[in-house]
Amino acid sequence: MYNSKIVAFDSCIAAKTVTNDDLSKLVETSDEWIASRTGIKQRYISDDKNTSELCSETAVKLLKKSNISPQELDLIIVATTSPDYLTPSTACIVQGMIGASNACAYDINAACSGFVFALITAEKFIRCGVYKNIMILGAETLSKLIDWTDRNTCVLFGDGAGGVIISSSGADGKSFILAEDMHADGLHWHAITGGELPLCNTFANAPKKDGHFIKMNGREVFSFATRSVPKSINIVLEKAGLGFDDIKYIVPHQANARIIEIVAKKLGLSMDKFYLNTDKFGNTSAASIPLALSEMSGAKLLNSGDKIILSGFGGGFTWGSVIIEI
Ligand code: UT7
Repeated sequence: MYNSKIVAFDSCIAAKTVTNDDLSKLVETSDEWIASRTGIKQRYISDDKNTSELCSETAVKLLKKSNISPQELDLIIVATTSPDYLTPSTACIVQGMIGASNACAYDINAACSGFVFALITAEKFIRCGVYKNIMILGAETLSKLIDWTDRNTCVLFGDGAGGVIISSSGADGKSFILAEDMHADGLHWHAITGGELPLCNTFANAPKKDGHFIKMNGREVFSFATRSVPKSINIVLEKAGLGFDDIKYIVPHQANARIIEIVAKKLGLSMDKFYLNTDKFGNTSAASIPLALSEMSGAKLLNSGDKIILSGFGGGFTWGSVIIEI
């Protein structure tokens, strides 16, 4: 088994800052309602770059930081639910944009769990000696799937991209992943939907549906998240034989600060253990965890040997956690 290590963190923040007050001019809402229900104070919305462009900007920074040339990349995985196209994959567009001509490239769609699932998947290729350098990006332009007249959803989401490069560094079998846990429950697929492609062809007489915009049963998602995330975190700790004292930070999917407060309470932890930037970014789905990691890395909060739990949850339902060692 080959060693695997994260060698760079970076991100691309979307251009336009949209505050809660800005949204209160579009729909009947208020800063007080949004901040008290979700912890969100503002979000970044992309008014110039699509998902592949947010990814490419992140990719160029990651390559520079890791001192790896585009040709040395073996694989690019983009976790997204808001790709530029269904085909080609966003990862293929990025591969072309950055000139990573030797890299295979594909997308993973696991909604807000996408980055965690992609990271776990990518690590296996390194561990088995198949690939040496893999770029994993989590990126969204959810703003194109938002009904900007629906106050139930338009206040929650934001755009952005973040990512990491993982590399092989010898054959001692030491992985940056200490334990992992992944789940899906398709019985609840209807709780969050968006980007529907209804059957439409010359032979079908299908009724026209309006499933393009994100629709969410907020309460159902809230209750799923507060049940599943604590369980998943306990599972990875048990698998790794570690306790909370061994963990420097828990970086959850940044959906809603209230969800994380309940998760913290259920785990008997103070909020200091959690890294939260929901106030600044809103819910950026697959981008939220790598955006947080990039911010933490920039603030020198991630040091060699630190053990961090990443925990994603969202549409599908999907959820999962991983303990990584920096
Ligand atoms: O990545 C995972 C994705 N999703 C999530 O993590 C979301 C999980 N769910 C949540 O965070 C919460 O359910 C929400 C923040 C989405 C909603 O909070 P809630 O406390 O569950 O509110 P609610 O949906 O039960 O709505 C309560 C009231 C309703 O009014 P009525 O029917 O009681 O008169 C809504 O119409 O709040 C109203 N409301 C709003 N009012 C002002 C809904 N959205 C807004 C808004 N501003 N933006």
